Amino acid sequence: RFRPLMRALTLLGLGTLFLTTSCKDSHIDNLEERSRLSDEVSLWPLPQQFQTSPVAFKLSASRFKIVHAPGSTAGPSCSLLQNAFRRYFKYIFGYVNEQGQPRSRVFDSELRELQVLITSTDPECDAYPSLKTDESCKFAVVFLTAFVVVFVVLGLETFSQLVYEDDYGVNNINKTSILDYPRFSHRGILLDTSRHYLPLKVILANLEVMAMNKFNVFHWHIVDDSSFPFLSRTFPNLSQQGAYHPYTHVYTPVDVKSVIEFARMRGIRVIAEFDTPGHTQSWGKGQTDLLTPCYSGSSPSGTFGPVNPILNSTYDFMTSFFKEISSVFADAYIHLGGDEVDFSCWKSNPDIQKFMEQQGFGQDYSKLESYYIQRLLDIVSSTKKGYMVWQEVFDNEVKLKGDTVVEVWKMNMVEEELQNVTGAGFTTILSAPWYLDYISYGQDWKNYYKVEPLSFNGTPEQKKLVIGGEACLWGEYVDATNLTPRLWPRASAVAERLWSDENVKDIGSAYSRLEKHRCHMVRRGIPAEPLFVGHCGHEYSGL
Ligand SMILES: *[C@@H]1O[C@H](CO)[C@@H](O)[C@H](O)[C@H]1NC(C)=O
Ligand SMILES: *[C@@H]1O[C@H](CO)[C@@H](O)[C@H](O)[C@H]1NC(C)=O
Ligand SMILES: *[C@@H]1O[C@H](CO)[C@@H](O)[C@H](O)[C@H]1NC(C)=O
Ligand SMILES: *[C@@H]1O[C@H](CO)[C@@H](O)[C@H](O)[C@H]1NC(C)=O
Repeated sequence: RFRPLMRALTLLGLGTLFLTTSCKDSHIDNLEERSRLSDEVSLWPLPQQFQTSPVAFKLSASRFKIVHAPGSTAGPSCSLLQNAFRRYFKYIFGYVNEQGQPRSRVFDSELRELQVLITSTDPECDAYPSLKTDESCKFAVVFLTAFVVVFVVLGLETFSQLVYEDDYGVNNINKTSILDYPRFSHRGILLDTSRHYLPLKVILANLEVMAMNKFNVFHWHIVDDSSFPFLSRTFPNLSQQGAYHPYTHVYTPVDVKSVIEFARMRGIRVIAEFDTPGHTQSWGKGQTDLLTPCYSGSSPSGTFGPVNPILNSTYDFMTSFFKEISSVFADAYIHLGGDEVDFSCWKSNPDIQKFMEQQGFGQDYSKLESYYIQRLLDIVSSTKKGYMVWQEVFDNEVKLKGDTVVEVWKMNMVEEELQNVTGAGFTTILSAPWYLDYISYGQDWKNYYKVEPLSFNGTPEQKKLVIGGEACLWGEYVDATNLTPRLWPRASAVAERLWSDENVKDIGSAYSRLEKHRCHMVRRGIPAEPLFVGHCGHEYSGL
């Protein structure tokens, strides 16, 4: 599929480049795999196959265009593409223009056009990205061909990373062939908007950086014990009472919509997490009788525990609530949490004790937890959504639908857990080694980078069930002031682990490319923190 296009490039000589993506069976002929890891290459994450050359072209802001190739199945009416063209044009030339580069100078060898060719009969311009989109699709730069439009966004990022400034401040790009596709199809970032409220601007800015790193899932841990910033139309009291502030510290339906659309434009899925039955203190403020009253001796202590699993009203509430959630969030999956349930309050409550007896649960409170989760899963299944859960739900032997995604987060016995989850036939994602809220002196990105998600004992079928992972930035010590520099470029290490080939693991090469990638981000105005001693050509200049 790519060979004719390669020839076309040679025939056209200077002037035109194609960006093209395709699903299945594509390869570029004569491409040495992961050719020469020269220090000059600044691609991050590293593509699956690429070849650079010393043939350089100039790019001029006044003449260079990103256009739809003849025969492309998507055109100017695809706003996702138009939006991406504009964004990447700005990334490539924005800063140069600011410095007043002479616009009219004509170069001998100049790249005038990047042609974007979409090949699918259904380019999916208006679709939401899904797990399926990402599987087995590839894109090639130099001819940027894409099967569906989402992959063009990835290709444009790669293209923009190839552009470098020469000694005269002029933009250059070398003749390069790239064929690329991800190793894992779920590459997520978890942000926590409950411990601290994150302004919309901060969320959008990080979606932008996620796209620069080819992350494709925003796991939005939107509510938790500390606050309930999600404004529910069905239960407005939840945020009215449960947010830090009912007007300034909430996500309105319009806010949520704009996050989802901004993400969609960048090929990013938004998976919201509404964690129950634990981590729900803030829910109790705006919804009476939802949480379990804790007892001190024979009388209520005035404090509350996890969601009350023995009341019918609890399940009526969850039915209405998740009906709304399933229509607000477009993704096929909802994350239902299910982690760290503290049993002490349940144990103290005489009504719960009675219920345990009636059900024959004995003193095994994980059975009660399973009873609740089971009923919740049935409710959510009836909304036609799939669900993701934290590993405890699997560990407690709750009956799960076949398409459940189990998120492994506990650091101890990670490999055995992966072995068990996949052994039981469940799809899984790994986040245990990537809790980026833990910080330390030095270069901890190397630890994230060295992780091999498939290093557990298991059959090839089991390994296939590991569809990716997530870097998690929990919010206890993070708000808008420090989120971006704490997350980037540390999460970039996870990005390459989840995107690039498993043999891409040389720390020295990674260091030199990541240093450049970090400077790319800084140049685009992202306050990504330094790896170590050094400098960027264009330093961060503040707000
Ligand atoms: C790009 O081309 C220049 C000029 O020929 C050359 O010096 C440089 O090594 C090339 N870079 C790469 C990554 O091939
Ligand atoms: C919301 O909370 C207010 C004040 O606590 C209460 O009067 C009202 O009945 C609640 N509304 C709903 C729908 O529960
Ligand atoms: C809860 O619902 C079940 C089944 O619908 C019913 O049998 C039971 O009586 C209800 N309990 C209460 C306290 O209403
Ligand atoms: C994995 O499964 C085995 C057999 O059921 C069990 O003994 C072990 O505790 C499980 N490991 C983990 C980490 O849950």
